[in-house]
Amino acid sequence: MEKKNIDWGELGFSYIQTDWRYVANYVNGVWEEGGLTAEADVVINECAGVLQYSQSCFEGLKAYTTEDGRIVTFRPDLNGQRMEDSCKRLEMPVYPKEKFVEAVIETVRANAAYVPPFGSGATLYIRPCMFASGPVIGVKPADAFQFRVFTTPVGPYFKGGVKPLTIRISDFDRAAPNGTGHIKAGLNYAMSLHAIVDAHNQGYDENMYLDAATHTKVEETGGANFIFVTKDNQVVTPKSGSILPSITRRSLMYVAKEYLGLETQEREISREELTEFAECGLCGTAAVISPVGKIVDHGREICLPSGMTDMGPVTKKLYDTLTGIQMGRLEAPAGWIQEIG
Ligand code: PLP
Ligand code: COI
Repeated sequence: MEKKNIDWGELGFSYIQTDWRYVANYVNGVWEEGGLTAEADVVINECAGVLQYSQSCFEGLKAYTTEDGRIVTFRPDLNGQRMEDSCKRLEMPVYPKEKFVEAVIETVRANAAYVPPFGSGATLYIRPCMFASGPVIGVKPADAFQFRVFTTPVGPYFKGGVKPLTIRISDFDRAAPNGTGHIKAGLNYAMSLHAIVDAHNQGYDENMYLDAATHTKVEETGGANFIFVTKDNQVVTPKSGSILPSITRRSLMYVAKEYLGLETQEREISREELTEFAECGLCGTAAVISPVGKIVDHGREICLPSGMTDMGPVTKKLYDTLTGIQMGRLEAPAGWIQEIG
């Protein structure tokens, strides 16, 4: 199969339309048979639930080309499970995770010409999503929905690749206790847009959100979880009911323990503790692991000892091991790699 003529090394994290997407509609209480279509535009009624009350959720995962030329994805079953969880919380019909994985495989296979070659630094980002297509005017769930999977080739999420980021502690909150922070609802991202534009205007790469109730504990950023490395090489990540259970973070914690022999802890992390860490990283499908060099707490600069030039040594080991597993260079734990072709 011939690859598309794309300058893979120059790709940023933006949308490039690919040839095929998978679409299934929920009508009259059942999911109709889905399939591939070339049509990238969606036509829905002006009163559709997604347009009026933001009834939507999504997922994000990637397809990789391995060194020996296979196309694979990473733990798509966990994205399928998380989308089921999102649907339940948002009163949307569950799209079964087994069918989710089939739809992902079918879409990637159809767009194989867009899967960046091994070593290019780029990947094919896969975006499954679901939205309320049926009209509602009273505040209630819609009765028609669309599930869709599309793809776009991407480079690094943060400009500059692995250059350490400067982030700020945000006064805006991302998610309330007992709210929707733990699911991948579109509304979580709509309300973070003002905070991220403001952060960028002030010269920061990202926001560090604190727990909304007390502003004393570290939560996550708008699109990634945190991992920290202590001065005695423990890998620590925040525990909270209002952050997204990142698949990358869960995988990294396993890799830290089982591949690198490091101690790991998922626990509450206080804002005051930030000065104690040796390394900090943002982790997620899009972010992979992006190192943080500086955290600014209302003018107080917290400079991570790992500095502003390179990833810290433990972060680097985690990065190399995780991407080694994803690209087929290292043996993966059972069930982590889904072959596409
Ligand atoms: N946290 C938020 C708010 C996200 O949007 C994402 C991205 O999906 C993550 C964390 C990372 O999750 P994952 O590693 O499953 O991509
Ligand atoms: C992902 O990492 O897949 C996400 O959905 C994060 C998003 C901000 C791009």
